[in-house]
Amino acid sequence: MDVLSLFNVLSIVAGTVLAANYPPIPSDKTTPVQQRIAINGPNAMAIGWNTYEKLDQSCVQYGTSEDSLTSQQCSSDSVTYHTSRTYGNAVVLSGLEPATTYYYKIVSTNSSVDHFLSPRSPGDSTPFNMDVVVDLGVYGKDGFTTTKRDTIPNIQPALQHTTIGSLATNVNDYELVIHPGDFAYADDWYLTLDNLLDGKDAYQAILENFYDQLAPIAGRKAYMASPGNHEADCTEIDYTSGLCPEGQRNFTDFMTRFGQTMPTAFASSSSNSTAQAGASKAQSLAKPPFWFSFEYGMVHVTMIDTETDFPSAPDGPGGSAGLDGGPFGFTNQQLEFLDADLASVDRTKTPWLIVAGHRPWYSTGDSSNNCTSCQAAFEPYLYKYGVDLAVFGHVHNTQRFQPVHNSVADPAGLNNPKAPMYIVAGGAGNIEGLSSIGSEPSYTAFAYADDLSYATLQFMNSSYMGVQFIQSSTNAVLDSSVLYKKHDTAFVVQ
Ligand SMILES: *[C@@H]1O[C@H](CO)[C@@H](O)[C@H](O)[C@H]1NC(C)=O
Ligand SMILES: *[C@@H]1O[C@H](CO)[C@@H](O)[C@H](O)[C@H]1NC(C)=O
Ligand SMILES: *[C@@H]1O[C@H](CO)[C@@H](O)[C@H](O)[C@H]1NC(C)=O
Ligand SMILES: *[C@@H]1O[C@H](CO)[C@@H](O)[C@H](O)[C@H]1NC(C)=O
Ligand SMILES: *[C@@H]1O[C@H](CO)[C@@H](O)[C@H](O)[C@H]1NC(C)=O
Repeated sequence: MDVLSLFNVLSIVAGTVLAANYPPIPSDKTTPVQQRIAINGPNAMAIGWNTYEKLDQSCVQYGTSEDSLTSQQCSSDSVTYHTSRTYGNAVVLSGLEPATTYYYKIVSTNSSVDHFLSPRSPGDSTPFNMDVVVDLGVYGKDGFTTTKRDTIPNIQPALQHTTIGSLATNVNDYELVIHPGDFAYADDWYLTLDNLLDGKDAYQAILENFYDQLAPIAGRKAYMASPGNHEADCTEIDYTSGLCPEGQRNFTDFMTRFGQTMPTAFASSSSNSTAQAGASKAQSLAKPPFWFSFEYGMVHVTMIDTETDFPSAPDGPGGSAGLDGGPFGFTNQQLEFLDADLASVDRTKTPWLIVAGHRPWYSTGDSSNNCTSCQAAFEPYLYKYGVDLAVFGHVHNTQRFQPVHNSVADPAGLNNPKAPMYIVAGGAGNIEGLSSIGSEPSYTAFAYADDLSYATLQFMNSSYMGVQFIQSSTNAVLDSSVLYKKHDTAFVVQ
């Protein structure tokens, strides 16, 4: 008997005192929970949600007026895995008018109408904001709590003191969210004493609670996800993933939850035939929800997997983290994707190019915070194709660096640099707490670890992008900078 099975036997003996902190199952098991929506294509949104029973047909009704939901799309895609109590459902709504408010109702005997903004077309130069959240864990009994002060309807009152509360308060200020890794922190179940004999259920309970807490945001704003180390297994303790039950290993929940809703890569919006061929190659090499890209107005966003699928990937087989995950593609598939994807970005259509991943290679603190294998694999592509901003988390605080390449700051600073600007937005809040800043590389521009925070990227026009860090408890702006990029070359190669 392995250790976790022994725990489970003991927990049965111990009875309900040690039962995992599951949310109640609604008596109407078609009730949608854990709602999450995502940009799935240039004119398409994917609506994802879970139910406590398998659905023969998952349907969503939608339309541009709240009381006239005249269109309907269905799928028969109700999926689950060992140890999960719920089924993941997803429907893609395609053929949408761009940048239009749609009302939608997940079909159930117990659901209500919500709304979303459909994706802006590539090339739409309307200014907009995109929020960045990384390293966000469950709030409450099995996660973090905050004694700080306390709006989107239906948000749990306690969440108003947290990053989710701030995203709710500011819900009209941003159009979409990217979250490159570390959701819920279910693999930290053992940090709560009550869970010690009930790890398998505690893991699932944390996921259910977290995605319910996130639903008021993720069900209204496109919420774009890529993996972090906390998605890998039921535990982060090195080389123990073999003890995890089936369903809690190898990114299973993450893959089941977001695999149905994340996009591949868009067909090129460029008239250049080389770019069109490159984008279609990128489409075939994309592996959502691990690596993929999408376009939204003035920006092309590429989400990468810093956990598996590149040489010496930390969570790959035999990797330094001992989490034994992946691979999810063939050898070098991710890097071939990245090369094709970034090369095909036409900056006359989408002037801004953002790459987002979980583990940084520029960070303050201990040098173990720098993912050197990530740097070796990814950094050359970011520089070569003139990526404007690289977004990471993993280290639980807030950091901004001057544009930098090969650990050398770009002398141009924020005034039309060739090197990408880097941020770490890992301060959203989780059971592990905030990390102290520690030593700062010479190119550090801002570092903060006093309170929870997240970032807002402001796409002002084709040459100016603002980066702000927001304090979650007060909505105050902690740091504000503006990057100027000329963007006068359609296809950057340097
Ligand atoms: C209907 O859904 C709400 C949450 O949206 C839930 O609280 C309630 O228990 C559900 N009712 C039934 C009958 O399942
Ligand atoms: C077409 O795009 C490629 C890169 O994908 C670039 O090298 C080439 O110069 C472009 N051609 C024109 C006419 O812009
Ligand atoms: C993880 O899952 C992928 C895709 O299903 C599979 O190819 C890979 O072998 C799995 N890795 C391990 C260690 O089980
Ligand atoms: C790694 O982290 C340290 C801070 O501890 C920093 O001084 C160093 O420059 C970093 N290395 C790289 C490659 O970013
Ligand atoms: C772009 O935005 C910046 C910052 O708001 C502004 O100063 C500049 O004039 C704008 N440029 C154009 C061409 O609109």
